[in-house]
Amino acid sequence: MKKFLQKIPEQVKRLSILLVVVVVVFIVAQSLLTPKDFGLIGHFRATSVQNNADKKMQYAGQEACSDCHEDMWKIKNAGYHKNLSCEVCHGPSLNHVNEPDQFKPEKPMGRNFCPVCHEYNPSRPTGFPQIVSASHNPRKFCISCHNPHNPTPPQTPKDCSACHAEISNAKSVSSHMEIPCTKCHETSEKHRLSPREFLPTKPTQREFCGQCHSKDAKSDISIPRINMETHEPRYVCWQCHYPHLPEAQ
Ligand code: HEC
Ligand code: HEC
Ligand code: HEC
Ligand code: HEC
Ligand code: HEC
Ligand code: HEC
Ligand code: HEC
Ligand code: HEC
Repeated sequence: MKKFLQKIPEQVKRLSILLVVVVVVFIVAQSLLTPKDFGLIGHFRATSVQNNADKKMQYAGQEACSDCHEDMWKIKNAGYHKNLSCEVCHGPSLNHVNEPDQFKPEKPMGRNFCPVCHEYNPSRPTGFPQIVSASHNPRKFCISCHNPHNPTPPQTPKDCSACHAEISNAKSVSSHMEIPCTKCHETSEKHRLSPREFLPTKPTQREFCGQCHSKDAKSDISIPRINMETHEPRYVCWQCHYPHLPEAQ
């Protein structure tokens, strides 16, 4: 045994002493620092359950609001914001529920609140109503036009030109000025409310233009005619003629 111990190199002996010291310190520290109730009912501090239960409640939940604000509750639940809880906007309001006159919930009036959900962001689902707040009626409070509890757009533009100004301007000085947009684009009512979700149709075949321009079309005789068979049959018409400002050079 003695021989064996002598054979061990000096540095290994010193290292083992160090190792023993580290292990002892670790065991002592663990038994002193670990809370007494650790592990009683799982791999955590047993009293942490109680500590959390003792925390002051902050949120009342939206059912609580309906007792005193029934009309607002009904309006909100019938509108676009039906899936939003009242306290999403008004902040934690339990103290208000308990003492309505003493505590008032927040009212998010400013322009930077609503864009938390509505600022344009390509990762939001298609059709989710989004705006670019820097250009969407800047400087005015959102709630001056939108009721936060029933946020339908106040009035929607009837005219295509409200959103397609450039195309509309071009058409109004073109030889197609008398043709209504909807003659060439079947447009559902819903397009003005959710433009990207309900896209209008676009002509897909040259015969569409041919209904007025083909040499045997039954349209107004003043309309310039072409022979559909010989007039560039390999292309659709709008590869050469911009339909909103057609030119014939
Ligand atoms: C016990 C009845 C009661 C309950 C429950 C209640 N409120 Fe109220 N709330 C009131 C009263 C009373 C007022 C004051 C009305 C007034 O000033 O005209 C008020 C006012 C408000 C206001 C306006 C504060 C202001 O500064 O003008 C908001 C916002 C509001 N409540 C939100 C809530 C929300 C959110 C809930 C649910 C978490 C809720 N209330 C639940 C009674 C209640
Ligand atoms: C999208 C955010 C939003 C949601 C959700 C919301 N509110 Fe409001 N609420 C507001 C804003 C903003 C105002 C301030 C409007 C104003 O002063 O014109 C307001 C005002 C109020 C007022 C004061 C009314 C007044 O005329 O001053 C009450 C009461 C209220 N909300 C209750 C509720 C209750 C109850 C719910 C849930 C059923 C709810 N709100 C949901 C944003 C919201
Ligand atoms: C927590 C997220 C959230 C907040 C905050 C929020 N909204 Fe909304 N908003 C929604 C959702 C969700 C819808 C419903 C979208 C749908 O139906 O696809 C909606 C719908 C709308 C619409 C309807 C658009 C349409 O399709 O006609 C308007 C307008 C609107 N919100 C305005 C506001 C205003 C103004 C505020 C601030 C007072 C606000 N929102 C705050 C989530 C939010
Ligand atoms: C001057 C009035 C006005 C103000 C202020 C205003 N809006 Fe609008 N908002 C409208 C009108 C009108 C529409 C419908 C036409 C449109 O889409 O431009 C609309 C449409 C919307 C839509 C629906 C867009 C869609 O694609 O369906 C959302 C969301 C919206 N607004 C949010 C807001 C938010 C958030 C604010 C504040 C940062 C705000 N609005 C400020 C008038 C206003
Ligand atoms: C509230 C604004 C708004 C109004 C009003 C509106 N549009 Fe649009 N329109 C849009 C938006 C936004 C797009 C999508 C543009 C994009 O995807 O780049 C679009 C796209 C289109 C497209 C292209 C479809 C495609 O597949 O590329 C056509 C065609 C169109 N609109 C026709 C019309 C006509 C016709 C009217 C009037 C009856 C009209 N729009 C009214 C906003 C509007
Ligand atoms: C004579 C038929 C005709 C009329 C009238 C017409 N369009 Fe078009 N429009 C087309 C054709 C064809 C296309 C397809 C072009 C393509 O696919 O490249 C198109 C494309 C579009 C597009 C897609 C974007 C683009 O520039 O290609 C929009 C948006 C649009 N039209 C809006 C309108 C609006 C708004 C009006 C009324 C002001 C209108 N159009 C009137 C034939 C027409
Ligand atoms: C509803 C009938 C109608 C349809 C559909 C129609 N056009 Fe026209 N087009 C006209 C009329 C009307 C004129 C103007 C005639 C005049 O100058 O008096 C015209 C003029 C033209 C001109 C001649 C412009 C010039 O300066 O001489 C071209 C090119 C043209 N259209 C191309 C098209 C194309 C391409 C399409 C399909 C996307 C199309 N048109 C669909 C009615 C139509
Ligand atoms: C490859 C390009 C091209 C295509 C595709 C094309 N056009 Fe043309 N189009 C022209 C050119 C260039 C002119 C002027 C020279 C001429 O009259 O041939 C013209 C002239 C016209 C004219 C005026 C004729 C006149 O007598 O004033 C009309 C109308 C017309 N095109 C309609 C159409 C229609 C409708 C289609 C689709 C069926 C179509 N074009 C496809 C290039 C094209």
